[in-house]
Amino acid sequence: MIKDAFGRVHDYLRISLTDNCNLRCFYCMPEEDYDFAPASRLMQAHEIQEIASIFVRHGVKKIRLTGGEPLVRKDAVSILEGLAALPVTLTLTTNGTRLDTCREAIRKGGIRSINISLDTLDPQKFRYVTRRDLFSAVMRNIQYMLDDGLRVKINVVVMKGLNDHEINRFVAWTKEVPVHVRLIEFMPFSGNRWTSNQVMTWKEMLEEIGKEFDFIKLADGEHDTAKAYQVPGHAGTFAVISTMSAPFCSSCNRMRLTADGKLKNCLFSKGETDLLTALRKGEPVEPLIRATMWAKAEALGGQFSKEFDQLNARDIDNRSMITIGG
Ligand code: GTP
Ligand code: 5AD
Ligand code: SF4
Repeated sequence: MIKDAFGRVHDYLRISLTDNCNLRCFYCMPEEDYDFAPASRLMQAHEIQEIASIFVRHGVKKIRLTGGEPLVRKDAVSILEGLAALPVTLTLTTNGTRLDTCREAIRKGGIRSINISLDTLDPQKFRYVTRRDLFSAVMRNIQYMLDDGLRVKINVVVMKGLNDHEINRFVAWTKEVPVHVRLIEFMPFSGNRWTSNQVMTWKEMLEEIGKEFDFIKLADGEHDTAKAYQVPGHAGTFAVISTMSAPFCSSCNRMRLTADGKLKNCLFSKGETDLLTALRKGEPVEPLIRATMWAKAEALGGQFSKEFDQLNARDIDNRSMITIGG
């Protein structure tokens, strides 16, 4: 078991396969010119397998592949196949644009659930947010995943003045389509131009939804990031992820491995531990994992001392979202 000083057990590992992406969402990419990490700095497929196996030996039960966009990596399918052989629940978070290329691997890998980022149901706005014309590809691939029997969660980063007016459109979508929409409070990361007045809180979201729909609360899992709801009779559900206004750190079970092999003990951790260099030198990795996780801050990487509306994004020392993977 991998524990921290607050008694939290960490059995969920998020592995970023790459900091590259085929979309250019401004809230995820850093503002300044950004060079993707050269391949030599990234964990190779066999190194991912080896590090993941160490985590699994010490209690990890769930692995999520993230990016950037995990499926832009050329060997994504073989990495997925390798990890599928481990005794874990394997899943991924993707922008959905390339899922058609790996339906078979997803089926063979026993993946039952997939999280797809989609911030708007408007093709023009999609192009504006992502700077790519791939809305119809994403919608088609969502349908493929549903056809293949997967549980599909849709991640919507809600930003005031950008897509907040679409919340009820997303909830209406769940009427006929069995997707699980998750409305996420906008979070600050290095270079993502976050300001507190763009954050729509989960309470504001529920208020907005309540204007059009009656809904009920659903039960949440012990470690869920999302609080789930449903409009009775709808095929799908919706949920809110309230990191900024109501953090859920006390039940956190997550660890993050960046594409260059660094372990982060929190989404907002300042520090990181280089597991890849240790592995390459033949040094033991497990003590590094234990020490890093033991040092995890009680909440939000220890970096958010104020209410979020008092927060200045520049005071937070972290990577950009594209290099963490969510
Ligand atoms: P499930 O395993 O399906 O519950 O997904 P998840 O919420 O763990 O992962 P996903 O990659 O879909 O992330 C959805 C949103 O939740 C993103 O905005 C993430 O940044 C956020 N998120 C995921 N894990 C954490 C976490 O440990 N802490 C916080 N604060 N937010 C998280
Ligand atoms: N705030 C909140 N969520 C974000 N994501 C990316 N950037 C942010 C942000 N600044 C979400 C995306 C993706 C998930 C991994 O993280 O919706 O699905
Ligand atoms: Fe866990 Fe950090 Fe997220 Fe809190 S902010 S839930 S401690 S990863």
